[in-house]
Order: sequence, then structure tokens, then C-alpha cells
Amino acid sequence: MRSLSASAPSKLILLGEHAVVYGHPALAVALRHPQAQATVSEAGRDAAVCVELKDFSLRWNSGHGAPTAVTRSFARILEMSGRRFKAVPERGWTLSVSSDIPLGCGLGSGAAVSCAAFQAIFGYFNVPCTPQVLSDMVYEVEKLHHGTPSGIDNTVISMGRPVLFRKGEAMRFLSVPKAPFFLVIGYTGKAHKTSEIVAEVAKAKAADPAKYDAIFKEIGELSSRGAEAFQKGLFRELGKLMCRNQELLEELGVSSLELENLVRAAMEAGAFGAKLSGAGRGGCMAALVESADSAARVRSALESSGAAMSIVTEILHHENA
Ligand code: MEV
Repeated sequence: MRSLSASAPSKLILLGEHAVVYGHPALAVALRHPQAQATVSEAGRDAAVCVELKDFSLRWNSGHGAPTAVTRSFARILEMSGRRFKAVPERGWTLSVSSDIPLGCGLGSGAAVSCAAFQAIFGYFNVPCTPQVLSDMVYEVEKLHHGTPSGIDNTVISMGRPVLFRKGEAMRFLSVPKAPFFLVIGYTGKAHKTSEIVAEVAKAKAADPAKYDAIFKEIGELSSRGAEAFQKGLFRELGKLMCRNQELLEELGVSSLELENLVRAAMEAGAFGAKLSGAGRGGCMAALVESADSAARVRSALESSGAAMSIVTEILHHENA
């Protein structure tokens, strides 16, 4: 039986979440782990396309019944693939999807699953697709769940490279520093809904625009400075910028006691910098460290401070993509 598999990375915002929604720059990297996987395999020629969601032990037959909240993205992926590319038939294949990325934790699980699914479909049916087209298609699926996402998740995940992202502008790919560094991620165990948190921030901003505009502007400046520090391998500097960004995220009201506990634990264990990453209120935080030993120390500090899960990971970039 013929089949083709693809994977897509998770993403981590090092600086700039929330401000990026309002047109300020944000610095994000694609992560080698965790990741999402998708496989397209041959099925009976007349069989309706079946989507298997392995993590949910769920099978959805595209011909039968309306999609649910869980399968809605896949209905959109099938519809977009078929509409855009004639080579993708309406019957005779199965799409199986799984992901190691916890849902609603700020690591871009939805965008990674969509990206892996599109890549498996296009690979299987020999449809050429540039990273930009892929990113645009993932964005369309993201809109189903996040309303008006900034576009950072689909961009960094589809490109698989560190970027300084600014809505509506050409993306700036960043070179990867030669000096080694590690990222340690701590997950609070509390999933969040990005669209709800973004909407609450928008409401708070409408009530006090001057305060929020000033915070977003400063966050944007941290991201631009962070991009330079990142490329030069100035991790101590980058760490300081992350800590300042955390303070500003706390002022925005998107942090939480659990996140702050983990950030504090990472800093006490020797991280250069630590902050929540993604929409906040739960989800995950990330710490920047210089060595494998330091990463192990920070990871163990996160685990003893209540992290539901922790990961030491490295970034993905075009040379090792
Ligand atoms: C979510 O990963 C990051 C936010 O800035 C929302 C967005 O950029 O769409 C909170």
C-alpha cells in the first residue's frame, strides 16, 4: 500500500506575543521537538476520504455527517487541497494525524498539525508547494480557531526557521548563532484558548489605549533588539530581554501564578532568561540556557516547581530542516 508521511515542527515565541497582533515585531523559532506528524495512504478507489486522529482515537469520514469542533480543521484542509489543486482527488485515500505537541499550550499545535497534513497530502499527490503557499494555507485553517491570528504561528512553522515576524511586512529570516544554546520548556498543564485571551487583551486595550500601546511598543522594541542579540549569540543579553518581556506580559494581565512560579524556578536554577510563551494564562513558559548541564538543572527545577511536563529542545533552521 502506497503512503507518504510528513512532519512539522512546533514553534516558540522568544519575544513579542500579543504585541505582534497589533503590528509590532516578534521573534519566534521553530523547534525540532515536539512535532506533529501526518501520513496519507492509499484506500479503496471509491472510498470517501477518511481522516484518522490518532491522539483522539477518532475516525471521520469526509462523506458522512457534518464535521465536529475537532474535525472542522480537517474538513477545511481537504476542501482547500481539492479546490486549489486538481491533482488531489475527492476519494480513495486516508489521512492519519498525530502530534506530540500538547494542545493549547502556546507551541502552535494547531498550525503544526495543519502544516504536516498539507505537506503529506501535497507530497503524496506530487503537488509542488512553496513554503509561502503552505504558510498561507495553514493561516486559513488557523482562522477557524483563532479568529484573526497575527500569522506568526503558520509562518514560523511552515518556514521552519527563526524569524523576526511583523504583520503585513516581508519576513526577516534570522541567522542561527554559532554558539550553542538550549531552550527548556515548562508546561503548566493548563490549556488555554488563544482567541479568548487575545479578545480579553483587546477589550482591556480599548479601555486604556495609552497604557496598552506603550506596553506593546516596548515589547516590539525588545523583539527587534532580541533579534540582533540572537544572531550574534549574545544570550545573556537575550535572556535579559526575555525577563523584561515577562514583566510586560504580567502588566498586560496574561501571566499566571503557575507561569510565574516556573519562570522564577528557571531563573534561580541559572537560566539566562525566562518568560511565558504564547497567549499566556496557562500554557507554557520557556527558559534560555547555555549548556546541556544547565538545561538539565533548569528542567529539574521546573519539574519540582509543578511543571506538568518539561522539555529540553533545540531550534530548527534551514541547514538542519
Ligand atoms: C499566539 O501563539 C501568539 C499571540 O500573539 C496571538 C497571535 O499572534 O495570533 C498571543
